[in-house]
This record gives sequence, structure tokens and C-alpha cells, in this order.
Amino acid sequence: MKLDIVTIFPEYFAPLEISLLGKARRAGLLDVHVHDLRDWTHDRHRTVDDTPYGGGPGMVMKPDPWGEALDTLAPPNAASAAGNAASAANAAGAVNAASADADAANCDAAVNAASAATNAASADADAAAASPATNAGGDAASAGAAVPAGVVPRMIIPTPSGRPFTQALAAEYAAEPWLLFACGRYEGIDSRVAEEARTRMPVDEVSLGDFVLAGGEVAVLVMVEAIGRLLPGVLGNVDSVADDSFAPGPMESLLEGPVYTKPPVWRDRAVPDVLLSGHHGAIARWRRDEALRRTARHRPELLSRLASGPFDEHDRRVLR
Ligand code: ADE
Repeated sequence: MKLDIVTIFPEYFAPLEISLLGKARRAGLLDVHVHDLRDWTHDRHRTVDDTPYGGGPGMVMKPDPWGEALDTLAPPNAASAAGNAASAANAAGAVNAASADADAANCDAAVNAASAATNAASADADAAAASPATNAGGDAASAGAAVPAGVVPRMIIPTPSGRPFTQALAAEYAAEPWLLFACGRYEGIDSRVAEEARTRMPVDEVSLGDFVLAGGEVAVLVMVEAIGRLLPGVLGNVDSVADDSFAPGPMESLLEGPVYTKPPVWRDRAVPDVLLSGHHGAIARWRRDEALRRTARHRPELLSRLASGPFDEHDRRVLR
């Protein structure tokens, strides 16, 4: 899977180099490209925001840098930018050989070269400095995760006014070959950017929940982790995904219950006997009962969804 992330804070994405996702990148399962939106500005201050029309507090992200980012990463009527690495590199050379060289030095050929092509003026030392941190590990990954020509990304814009991000949506995204995340800051991105993007690719505005973050970066980190761990080969044990809270199947609409490991007794607290019984049927039933109880306690509204699905007489007894 290919991921493009556009942000004014590329440094936020350093964690994608470690742990599960870092390993997935190095294994070629995930091809992550983090882009600094300011590379698509042309003024001395690299301005990305302006005051809102209609008045009100805060600032709104200007459409122009976003438009150029879209034109570079997902050109109109495009065969994919990634599928056109060679022509993008040529264009970069024609416009500004020096910028192309700086990017090539960071070995993120296809997308960074394309960025240099439209962005000769601003592909400067800052951009070059940002790339090694954010794109480290990209080389190994790009080999295994190329996007075929003609494929367009699915664009995801994190915003508190979007549709809810759920495990089902994470699974849907995990089946896509290419995602493009646009991190808004301030009061959000000028709405015409999403409108324009919709003329060339599917665009989802997605919310992590009923709270407001300072920007989309943390939301994207959350979504990328939720999506990335569902990619085939990323988790060692595929069964662990099936047991997750909200996983499709028996755990859908249920919160996962408590878990235990050795020792069997710790500070006078014993692990429930059934888990040591070796009786797989009884263990599965106990886990479901605990999941039902926990769901009733923390998320009672989920149980009404469950009632119309796989909900049996035993389940009802547990909850009485
Ligand atoms: N940006 C700011 N708040 C957010 C939220 N709750 N979900 C997604 N993106 C956001």
C-alpha cells in the first residue's frame, strides 16, 4: 500500500519509522511518503493560511498550496503519479535540476521528483532537510508497493466534522492500494480543495470522535496505525485481528474483555479458572460473556446494534 501524507509538520510522522509500522515499511508492505505542504508555497514566508471569509476567529488553510499538492501527487486525468516516475523525474530535471538533485539525494524518486517539478522555487534546503527524517526507509518499501498506472488514490481529510472512523472503515481503507491524507490545521482547509479533489478521486472527510484536535496530524497517525496493522503480513498472528474489539464476525459491536498472562496468581489475584481449563468451547463462551458485560458497562448503545445481529438466548441471560 502506498501512503502520501501532506502536512505542515512532517516531523509529526517520525513514529511511523518505529515499531510495527516501521517494520512493515522496511518489509516493503507500506510505502510512506510525507510531504511538507509549504513546499508548494511560493512566497518568502511560505504562507499556508489566511483569514476566513465571513469573519470569525482563527485562520483557514489557503487552497493554492493544496491545489499544487494535488496536481503533483494526483494529477488531473492522471495515470498515477507513481506509475509515471520516469516522466515526473524528467519534468523535474527540465524545471530545476538542482532541486531534483537534492531530492534524488534523499532517494524518494517518484513523488519527490514530481514535487520538485511543480515546485522549483520552494524545493529548498528545508524540504531537503525534512525528507531524511520523514522518508527514511522509503527506498526499501517502494520496491514492494508500487501503484499501477491509472490507479488514483483515495483521499482522506481528518476533520471533526467528518464521518466517524471505525474498524470497518479501517478495513475498507486497508484494501485500497493508495491513500492520500491531507492534514488540516487551524480552522480547516478551504472547502474548494475537497471539491476539486472529488473531480479526480474519492474523498472522505473522517472524524476520530466527538472532540477537537489541534490539527489532522495525530488523527492521521491513529488512522495509519489502525489501517497498517490490518495489512496482510504486518501482524505476526492474523488471528489477533479477528479477536479485536469491533472486528467483523463474533466481536462486531463488542468490546474485547479482560486478558491475563502468567503467573496464574499475582498478589493474591488469580486468573479466572476457565482460562486455565484448556476447554476451548468454555473459554470462547467466557470471553464472549465478558465482552458482553464490558460492552453493557462502557458502550451500552452498541448492544442495540448487536441485538439485530448474532445475539442468542445465552447472551441475553448474561446481560440480565
Ligand atoms: N482534526 C481535529 N479534530 C479532529 C477529530 N476529532 N478527528 C479527526 N480530525 C480532527
